[in-house]
Amino acid sequence: MLITFEGPEGSGKTTQAHLLAEYLQRQGEQVVLTREPGGTPIGDLVRDILHDPLHKDMQAWTEVMLYSASRAQLVAQVIRPALAAGKQVICDRYYDSTLAYQGYGRGLDLAALVSITQLATGGLAPDLTLCLDIAAERGLQRRLLGGGEWNRMDQEALAFHRRVRAGYLELAGLEPARWIVVDADRSAGEVQEMVRRLVAGRMQG
Ligand SMILES: Nc1ncnc2c1ncn2[C@@H]1O[C@H](COP(=O)(O)OP(=O)(O)OP(=O)(O)O)[C@@H](O)[C@H]1O
Ligand SMILES: [Mg+2]
Repeated sequence: MLITFEGPEGSGKTTQAHLLAEYLQRQGEQVVLTREPGGTPIGDLVRDILHDPLHKDMQAWTEVMLYSASRAQLVAQVIRPALAAGKQVICDRYYDSTLAYQGYGRGLDLAALVSITQLATGGLAPDLTLCLDIAAERGLQRRLLGGGEWNRMDQEALAFHRRVRAGYLELAGLEPARWIVVDADRSAGEVQEMVRRLVAGRMQG
């Protein structure tokens, strides 16, 4: 299965993806945990360009192309081989981030974004997408308190992050068979319990 984590900044994607990977490994599964942008040597270089807060003049379509370049590399080099080898793949963000951030957040044409996404992924969709839902300001507050890197996307206006959150909820509504929205405004342990239950249910089904 390809399981992806989505949701606004600071919603807990990285935390939950790690916890789920450890859990599935303990259950005897072979697990590949990866992330976007990045996850490959080429993709990690692209990630640095995308996240650098100094790159304030980056154009919206440049941003799309860079995320897509990282994604194309990740799908070909990591995700497809792992799935072919029967492994469980957990990805911390995937193409829905492009639809939410560049589509709903920046207002780029969604149909064009879907086309580029198809090219980058060869049409590989997740089996399950967990949307960790939290109010934009709550997530950003966590990011500030956590003291991690403050990247180019974090510094966008609150209104942008609100559009991203609303976009995620709309995307989830459009494809209810693939998405599950999880209330992420709870302790990491509580969220993880819910995530495990949902993933177990999907693996058995
Ligand atoms: N349920 C939670 N309650 C409180 N704090 C949390 C919770 N989950 C994660 N955190 C903390 O909030 C911060 C952001 O969490 P995390 O990095 O997992 O979010 P993220 O969704 O991956 O963020 P980003 O979108 O920036 O990658 C971290 O400092 C993390 O330790
Ligand atoms: Mg993260």
